[in-house]
Amino acid sequence: MKQITIAIDGFSSTGKSTVAKQLAKHLGYIYVDSGAMYRAVTWFAMQNQFIGASYFHIQDLIDHLDQISINFKFNPELGFAEVYLNGNNIEKDIRTMEVSSFVSPVAEISEVRKLLVKQQQKMGESKGIVMDGRDIGTVVFPDAELKLFMTASAETRANRRFQELISRGDEVNFEQVLHNVQERDFIDSNRKDSPLVKANDAIEIDNSNLSLEEQFNKILQLVENKQKEYK
Ligand code: CDP
Ligand code: CDP
Repeated sequence: MKQITIAIDGFSSTGKSTVAKQLAKHLGYIYVDSGAMYRAVTWFAMQNQFIGASYFHIQDLIDHLDQISINFKFNPELGFAEVYLNGNNIEKDIRTMEVSSFVSPVAEISEVRKLLVKQQQKMGESKGIVMDGRDIGTVVFPDAELKLFMTASAETRANRRFQELISRGDEVNFEQVLHNVQERDFIDSNRKDSPLVKANDAIEIDNSNLSLEEQFNKILQLVENKQKEYK
């Protein structure tokens, strides 16, 4: 079976990474969480005091981008690749509300996008890849054989993310999570460089009322149809 490129875009907490991981495992493809890369740059900016509650030194971050090295290493126990920044595993550190509150402004910076898009395109050179994010079908892999655009209502998505955060022991309230989800959707959709938009040839999937299993089966069917087309 010929390997294809699967691009999954959409709003925050629509289940992109969950289905991308399931597909990669099922198909034996590489999975790349492009959002983790933007979160890693944000974490770097926070650690170096370029970004904080009352300041954002954009030029300092841009001047230090060459000091950032991001890698993914597969963790067989988890069944997916964890993200490393300059050799340190930061998979858990980048999922906090604090990083979520700074990541969209960092992802607006063109210099950051240019750097990460180049690395993402390199990872997908030999196909057999599932990547999720905001600009995968529009900018990173405009020629991807299968493009999906995931949506669900803001309340559904915030509730999903809220459950995830409290189950890891984070002290957050629902309103905070809803606000963050809506704020990121707004910034991501309205930025100048590579805004979150549905590619013309993407298939939209509203999973507000789909279980994880239903969502996976529906998408797997789309993948199998594409694989037949490109055989
Ligand atoms: O998983 P969640 O929906 O919370 O977000 P994510 O995929 O981890 O992405 C975090 C943020 O990175 C997004 O809100 C965007 O601001 C940015 N991002 C982006 O600009 N382009 C991408 N391809 C992926 C993420
Ligand atoms: O990657 P993205 O931010 O789009 O979302 P995710 O991290 O895959 O999913 C966010 C949460 O929603 C996870 O806890 C999923 O298990 C849950 N989810 C769900 O319950 N039902 C769906 N149809 C999709 C996601």
